[in-house]
Amino acid sequence: MPTTGPFPAIEPSPTSSRVLGIESSCDETAAAVVEDGRAILSTVVASQVDLHAKYGGVFPEVASRQHILAIYPIVEQALLQAHLSLHDVDAIAVTRGPGLPGSLVIGMNAAKGLALGTVRPGGALPLIGINHLEAHLYSAWLKHPGEELQPDPQFPVVALIVSGGHTELVLISDHLHYQRLGSTLDDAAGEAFDKVSRLIGLGYPGGPAIQKAAEDGDPQAFNFPRAWLEGSWNFSFSGLKTAVLREVRRMEASKITLPVANLAASFQAAVAEVLVVKTMKAAQVHKAQSILVVGGVSANRALRDAVKLRASCPVFIPTISLCTDNAAMVAAAGHFRYIAGQRDDLNIDVLPNWPLSEV
Ligand code: KG4
Ligand code: ZN
Repeated sequence: MPTTGPFPAIEPSPTSSRVLGIESSCDETAAAVVEDGRAILSTVVASQVDLHAKYGGVFPEVASRQHILAIYPIVEQALLQAHLSLHDVDAIAVTRGPGLPGSLVIGMNAAKGLALGTVRPGGALPLIGINHLEAHLYSAWLKHPGEELQPDPQFPVVALIVSGGHTELVLISDHLHYQRLGSTLDDAAGEAFDKVSRLIGLGYPGGPAIQKAAEDGDPQAFNFPRAWLEGSWNFSFSGLKTAVLREVRRMEASKITLPVANLAASFQAAVAEVLVVKTMKAAQVHKAQSILVVGGVSANRALRDAVKLRASCPVFIPTISLCTDNAAMVAAAGHFRYIAGQRDDLNIDVLPNWPLSEV
């Protein structure tokens, strides 16, 4: 006979999920459906890059207006591509921060509206707020159709997050357990790419533009400085940026045509070398079983090649489309939080300055 008592029945923890992910922290409006934190059922990204290119960077007001226009069609498209309705998903995971406040709010409010409007026997659809850096980390668990048998990263993991806003070296001891080893003291790696790109007359975003120009350049043409910051896992790119600026000024004053390809290749090599050497050292010291390199800058070919060449344990770098901002990574992180029992209140707010150490 079943016992009855004063306590509500404890629901068994789910081990499986289909999560709708929503991302709008910067200038990409994205939605995706992911199964069990790994299998991508759909992923849709509306990039605003052309709109912001003329400003040489992201114009926050323009970004949030564009998110408003794009968010519902993008969610609809993601569900359509997955052949699912909102009633078929178990939770909505949405980026809560860090990011641009006006952009984050659009994704968060859309997620709340969708969760509230999808009433099921147990109540509204669960809502899970996700840290954007944690989402980048979980991009390493994602698998495209046909990759199902690829292994997951094994703990302990040493992860390098390199994006437009962040450069962090993180030790992951288990799912959802992070320890920040180091971070940038000034510019993020992607920010350095964007600023140097502007300096040498290339477009926005700087990363892809520098990578392209560097194809025809000599990475040893200029011996740009590497900030090793010995004894710490921190990074610094402002000295490198200033060194490029000094070279550019010197050549402009002497009316020398800028050797753009050589400048791009030498700058890219300096960034990649520091990132790779410090990540490999951290992996060794912390006896990592896997190394992750994630975030927009992990799309960089020179960095990807150098990491793979020097790694002493398996390396996970997402396919290019999953390096830059997307919602599949948000849904993947959402799965691991969902099976850990996280359910957020519908009154949660965005956290524009939310460090990974505080998730
Ligand atoms: O992760 P992400 O899409 O957005 C943030 O969370 O910041 O990263 C965007 C950054 C930009 O700074 C962009 O220049 C850089 O990633 N990026 C690259 C490449 N593709 C994008 N940097 C170097 N090489 C690339 N191929
Ligand atoms: Zn990002």
